[in-house]
Formats: sequence, structure tokens, C-alpha cells
Amino acid sequence: MEKKIELNTNWLGRNILYYQILDSTQSMSHIMATNQSPHGTIIIAEEQTDGRGRLGRVWYSEKEKGIWMSIILRPAFNIQSAPQITLLTSIIVQRTLKKMFDIDSKIKWPNDIYIDHRKCAGILCEVKGDLNNYYLVVGIGINTHKTEYQDVIKNKAISIEEKINHSPKRLEIIIELINEFEKSYDSFQQDGLKIFREEYIDVMYGLNYKILYNNIIGYIKGIDENGHLLVREEDGNFINVSSGEIKFLF
Ligand code: BTN
Repeated sequence: MEKKIELNTNWLGRNILYYQILDSTQSMSHIMATNQSPHGTIIIAEEQTDGRGRLGRVWYSEKEKGIWMSIILRPAFNIQSAPQITLLTSIIVQRTLKKMFDIDSKIKWPNDIYIDHRKCAGILCEVKGDLNNYYLVVGIGINTHKTEYQDVIKNKAISIEEKINHSPKRLEIIIELINEFEKSYDSFQQDGLKIFREEYIDVMYGLNYKILYNNIIGYIKGIDENGHLLVREEDGNFINVSSGEIKFLF
């Protein structure tokens, strides 16, 4: 008999707000967070008219073609560690794709999930507040179903459906993601990112590839315990990259 996938969380997704259409689940989450929505609140939309990605990019979010959701977190840990949640969430998505569909996806540092050299999912982590009182909105976008991609992302995007050749059940993916997120987040709170480091490096997209970053040419060598990208420059010198965009030199 098929195993039933059920929500088995204590604090995550106990409050889920579901919309047919929103401008962005991120924007709605900020409104809800400002209105005291609790830690673990989830906002999901079938369609986004103004979905956004990192670095001010547009995130195409067609109706029922993907999972467009955001999670409100009120972390107990220091705000300095907040960016690490981007990497943690990437691992959670990677694990979910492996567990449910046996897909070996790769993580392009810090937050893109790649299948066969095309982007299938992205994570957008936004922090608001000050040192003593802040919250996080973790946005997760996963292309689940085949669509006519916009010209700018044609040949660069992929969906789960295209990989597995059948239509995945979005609700089951959402439940699995939420279960996996709570488990991993609780471990992260307890032990930090270091316990995920090896796994992250194992599934990293472009390990040892040649890249360009801030006019510097180097090779991807992994991440450090804070989630910064480790790059070996051509002269053998190692640098840690904390943010920004890397360009692959194939
Ligand atoms: C990226 O790859 O740049 C991040 C993409 C994040 C997309 C998700 S979809 C749900 C949430 N709402 C948004 O407007 N963006 C995030």
C-alpha cells in the first residue's frame, strides 16, 4: 500500500494561509509578520503576479505550475546566522527531491537548485528588524510542472515534471517540505550549520569549476562552517565569499 504523506510537525505550518492569487507570498508574509503572525506561519499561493527572486530579479510564478510559498520565522539565534537559513533551505529542498523522486539535484551556492544544469527551484531569505528583535521570511519557489518558459529563462529552467515524466503532486511535496524543514531547522538551532556542511558540499553545483567573482578568477572548493563560499584563486590563495553573484567560466 502507498505510504500516506501527512504533516507531522509541532510548530511549522500549524498556521497556513492559502491564496489563489497574490502579488508575492513574500510581501504578504511581511504584512502578516508585522501583524504578529506566529513563528512557523506559512503563506502559499497558486499564482503570483509579482513574484521576486534574489538580486531584484523577477520570479515567474504561473498558476498551478509550481510551489510558491513563504515561511515566517522568529529565530532564537543571532541575526548574524540568519543568512545561513538560505543554505539550510537549499538542503531541505534538495533532500525532498531526492526522497520523493530520487532526483539528484545540485545546489548552486547559495540558493539555487539545479537539475541537469537547469534551475528548478530558488530560495529567497529576507530579514527584517534589528539585532534584538527580528524575523525572517523564507521564500521557496519550485517549478513543479512543465510550462512555456519566458524567453529570458528558456533553456535555463526545468520542472520536476520534465525530469520524472509524470505530474508530481504538489500537496505531497509541500507536506514533505514542511516536515523536513521543521526537523532540519530544529537541528540547525541546536548544532548550527556545521552539521550540514559536508552534505551541502556533496551536492554542490560546480565544485572545482572555474568561476569569476568580483573580477577574480578562482575555483569553487566548498563552503566554510558559516556557509561562505570557499574559492581558491589561481595563485593558490583561498578566499571566503559571503554574498553576491558568481559566474561560471565553462
Ligand atoms: C531566487 O532564485 O532568486 C529566489 C526565488 C524565490 C521565489 C519564491 S516563490 C515564493 C516566494 N515569493 C516570492 O515572491 N519569491 C519567493
